[in-house]
Amino acid sequence: TRRITVRDIAAAKQRGEKWPMLTAYDAMTASVFDEAGIPVLLVGDSMGNCHLGYDSTVPVTMDEITMLSAAVVRGTSRALIVGDLPFGSYQEGPTQALRNATRLVKEAGVGAVKLEGGERSAHQIELLVSSGIPVMAHIGLTPQSVNAFGGYPVQGRGEEAAQQLLRDAKAVQDAGAFAVVLELVPAELAAEVTTMLHVPTVGIGAGPDCDAQVLVWTDMAGMTGGRLPRFVKQYARLREVLGDAARSFADEVVDGAYPAAEHSFH
Ligand code: KIV
Ligand code: NA
Repeated sequence: TRRITVRDIAAAKQRGEKWPMLTAYDAMTASVFDEAGIPVLLVGDSMGNCHLGYDSTVPVTMDEITMLSAAVVRGTSRALIVGDLPFGSYQEGPTQALRNATRLVKEAGVGAVKLEGGERSAHQIELLVSSGIPVMAHIGLTPQSVNAFGGYPVQGRGEEAAQQLLRDAKAVQDAGAFAVVLELVPAELAAEVTTMLHVPTVGIGAGPDCDAQVLVWTDMAGMTGGRLPRFVKQYARLREVLGDAARSFADEVVDGAYPAAEHSFH
């Protein structure tokens, strides 16, 4: 079996098929999602929050994204792997974006990259796409701009903001993006963007009418601790399961039940 490509993604929109995307940050977890048939895996800079212990995506580096993207590529055989360009790796302009995207393609083996921004990132997207690197765009709430947003507010509310979001969506499509993430956008506006574009929209907190949906895997599987955004649905309770396993192991070591005879060599 060959890997999913951006052509398959384009064909899915033609056929009106919805598809799922999850994040992944290591080979083993990625192999689970690959075997489950998730067609697109994003090595998101959300690794800052849920894998590396930072409190935002801002500190994540190219070295970190490259290393974990390589692991996700090694752990999978079917999914299209998208590597996120971290904050500071493309804002200087198209040349910097191409240098760093090329590194992700060559060193990690990703099939596409993602970067944040609509009109403001169009020149970067154009150069990457014309250089042979498929680009997934990301508009609406763009977490790398948390310091400018002053938090993570819903985007595109009000006529002016809605018009800007529509211009951003059109700009990234015109620049050649093969898909566009819509994060924290009112459902009605996301539906309008989805109808307007011929490339697929990938929603996160953007309602049911997007062509695809993405979640951070640790949120989706109930691994993340603390409060979750309202758009998250937890499909498992991994944090509880893993905590219970650790407590059982600890108890059995302390009371001598583990290791038993069958775990020992003589
Ligand atoms: O980094 C990430 O996980 C993302 C998705 C939430 C779209 O950018
Ligand atoms: Na991201």
